[in-house]
Amino acid sequence: MWHPPENIKHPLPDVRWPTEAEAAASRWFSPVTIGPVTLEQRTWVPAMVPWRATEDGFVTEDVLDWYARFAEGRPGAIVVEATGVRDIPSGPLLRIGHDRFIPGLQRLVETVRRAGEGHTRLFIQIIDFLAIKRRPEKEKFIRRFLDVNDRYRAALGLAAAPEAEVRERLLSLPDPELDRLLDERDRESLRYGFRERVTDMDRPHIRELPKVLPGIFAEAAARAEKAGFDGVELHYAHAYTMASFLSALNDRPDGYGGPREHRVRLPLEVYRAVRAAVSNRCVVGCRYLADETIAGGNRPEDAAWFGVEFARSGMDFLSVSRGGKFEDAQPPAVGWAAYPYTGPSGYECMPTVLSDRQGPFGRNVPAVGQIRQAVREAGLSTPIVVSGGIHGFDQAEGILERDEADIVAAARQSLADPDWFRKVRLGRGGEVRRCVFTNVCEALDQKHLQVTCQLWGRLGLGEPGVKLSRDGRRRLVPPRWEPAP
Ligand SMILES: Cc1cc2nc3c(=O)[nH]c(=O)nc-3n(C[C@H](O)[C@H](O)[C@H](O)COP(=O)(O)O)c2cc1C
Ligand code: SF4
Repeated sequence: MWHPPENIKHPLPDVRWPTEAEAAASRWFSPVTIGPVTLEQRTWVPAMVPWRATEDGFVTEDVLDWYARFAEGRPGAIVVEATGVRDIPSGPLLRIGHDRFIPGLQRLVETVRRAGEGHTRLFIQIIDFLAIKRRPEKEKFIRRFLDVNDRYRAALGLAAAPEAEVRERLLSLPDPELDRLLDERDRESLRYGFRERVTDMDRPHIRELPKVLPGIFAEAAARAEKAGFDGVELHYAHAYTMASFLSALNDRPDGYGGPREHRVRLPLEVYRAVRAAVSNRCVVGCRYLADETIAGGNRPEDAAWFGVEFARSGMDFLSVSRGGKFEDAQPPAVGWAAYPYTGPSGYECMPTVLSDRQGPFGRNVPAVGQIRQAVREAGLSTPIVVSGGIHGFDQAEGILERDEADIVAAARQSLADPDWFRKVRLGRGGEVRRCVFTNVCEALDQKHLQVTCQLWGRLGLGEPGVKLSRDGRRRLVPPRWEPAP
């Protein structure tokens, strides 16, 4: 994984844990209303893909175990991982693009309600993504996939030569020369694998996205409500379709790209379609980026503007992430697809302790504070969820105290210890297993391996009933924690 060139190793900050009485009286453990529901606490587990669904997108026993384990920590809310809205094969990622997925999702909701004894609200993140191919072998790409155009022929002085000869000449070029000759898109397809963009207007299904996506998201949201979820989180963040519409790099000429007013159009249309498809008991919010952190991308000023538009349109919450883009990702190995968390923007999304002067803890907070301020100045009270390097009680409490957010979320710290909210609430913060922010979990995610944490993956492997990962080397959920009476 990329890390800032300053290469400063940040120690885990010292933390102070509250007594039970202090936690009970704190902001973080106080209720908050989001749209039609109330969270018991302002604690939140954001979406994390654990790679436990079946190859065709169904809920498995391992998925149930995973979310039950998070529910035992009784956070205010859990957001189920990015779940595909289309009915298309997408590997072992959860899907919600057809009614046949509803029974499994229903079991997931029931499992979480039981494990959390009704204390935790459950949302599901719904996502659309575009096609991405694995990085091809050079020979295969040049001999089979590359479109041999007149510019290449002219550059090689082979205007009238047979196509096969042009391909062989291209293949014989040293890499730097080949890279100079290929146009940007072909070079990317060779070095990263082909990736569709929302701006590929020559592709009919990309042109049609604004026509089809509102309906697809709306149907998915209706299924989520039918399955019993408290609401949906529209995935407008990171490297995926809806974030790409919002992106400052989106220059579609059809009224859905260019100025901010046009870029926000589809996200608002999707939201309205979703809202119309669910009852007024269903929460509808979105996750989007405070800062794309890429050259030419959206900055916090843009995000603040979008935040006001989303809040004004009636969204129930805004969960704000950061970075995680394809544009600055590192080239994958041959046979692998690009992963949007390998470059500087990926670092911004899931920062590690190997950092710059600012360090990994709460990097997203100032930008999220800016969004919240803009939303409040517009006279809107939409709750704002912050995430990114949250690791402790005082840190979370400070964010709430300074009005930088209304809900404080923790992904990796909750993965390291799903009981941590409960431990802190009970005045037993000293027992929290603290995330070390070195991203072993993220490396597993990148390889599409079942995500576990280095701090508990190897504990009690031989104990009865412990389910193991496919490689047999890691347990799939952390050992249970029983609060002493
Ligand atoms: C294994 C893993 C999977 C993730 N999957 C998702 C996802 O499905 N959707 C999403 O919006 N963010 C996803 N994220 C990002 C987290 O929700 C969160 O924004 C990020 O880890 C930063 O928060 P943290 O510092 O509390 O971990 C994932 C993170 C990890 C570590
Ligand atoms: S593997 Fe565990 S300790 Fe390491 S970053 Fe992930 S959650 Fe934290």
